[in-house]
Amino acid sequence: MKYDFDNVIDRSNSYSIKYEPSWRGKPADVLPLWVADMDFASPPCVQEALISRAKHGIFGYSEPDAAYCDVTQKWFEERFNWSPQRDWLTITPGTVNAIYIAIRALTEPGDGIVIQQPVYYPFESSIRKTGRQLLVNELILDGGRYSIDFEDFEEKIKQAKLFILCNPHNPVGRVWKADELIRMGELCLCHGVTVIADEIHEDFVFPGHRHLVFAALNQELADITVTCTSPSKTFNLAGLLHANIFISNKELREKFKDEYARSGLSQPGVMGLAACKAAYQDGAQWLEQLLGYLAGNISFLKTYLTNHIPKIKLIEPEGTYLAWLDCSESGLSAQELDEVITQKGKLWLSAGYTFGKGGGGFERMNAACPRSVLHNALERLKNMDWEKAGA
Ligand SMILES: Cc1ncc(COP(=O)(O)O)c(C=O)c1O
Repeated sequence: MKYDFDNVIDRSNSYSIKYEPSWRGKPADVLPLWVADMDFASPPCVQEALISRAKHGIFGYSEPDAAYCDVTQKWFEERFNWSPQRDWLTITPGTVNAIYIAIRALTEPGDGIVIQQPVYYPFESSIRKTGRQLLVNELILDGGRYSIDFEDFEEKIKQAKLFILCNPHNPVGRVWKADELIRMGELCLCHGVTVIADEIHEDFVFPGHRHLVFAALNQELADITVTCTSPSKTFNLAGLLHANIFISNKELREKFKDEYARSGLSQPGVMGLAACKAAYQDGAQWLEQLLGYLAGNISFLKTYLTNHIPKIKLIEPEGTYLAWLDCSESGLSAQELDEVITQKGKLWLSAGYTFGKGGGGFERMNAACPRSVLHNALERLKNMDWEKAGA
């Protein structure tokens, strides 16, 4: 079966935060390519499973059964050669929620937590809002590619209790290699630091790259890791609030589960269970075609920028569907840049500075949309007047 990713679906009046600019104080006529959900319908297998579950008509308290766990395990086995066991699993309403739970479970107020900015902004908020100490290991950009400053990483890790790894990395698009992951892991082991591996973008990896599950690298690393996964990015299910968190170390897992219970959370939602099982059981072919389409979008984006807006440089993603755009040649300040793109370009992107250190001068564009929408966005960027808004 051939899936249609060119179809433009009207998402207004569907409770979508992406498509309600006034809720976030943005002009009504902006084109939204900000938050990381896709403008594609979830695969038919997921829609059918949800319709069938809805028709059952009873939505009582629910938990994953053996079949759910087997299907989930098989997904990771086949794609990443990693076999998460049934008893390692806790289902949470999201990976961000799991990060907050892990922070509270595994650290005390004032403890240091390392993140690698520019990075997904809830990492910093989770550290600040729980009263922990933010330790930033800023990534290095050199020749259009990001890498890790290991000397600084070790300095920060020495002061930390926890490290939040983002792999594949949002927004810089790196899919970390085995030597990088092992080097980071060894430093964490050496300094007694636990790792939250946020691998939510794991299924979005472009040809020539391979996602490696951090906890699958070796037993020592598995023992210090909380692995956060979710079908929500892969199959566009964020609104179902469903994430699979795997912790093989019993002591860490019990602390995590204890804190989870203290949040007043008990069972997961039944629709998330139904959708996740259907996606992992029957969604692989849809995903394969989606990945081909996304690679096409990234290549379209790159060619368009080169030909029409050469002052904006694409940091070519190895993974994720997020395009990290270097707009530093605009000469605008970080805030002015976002203001101009929103007010004059009528484009709603994610402002680079919100991703923390190293994010100023960049914008993040969500490329998971029909190509015609991406084209429209690029035309807006090309035609806009780059003078300061109001100037
Ligand atoms: C790295 C990363 N982690 C977590 C999330 C959000 O996950 P959830 O909706 O499961 O909380 C996102 C969403 O963009 C993300 O990019």
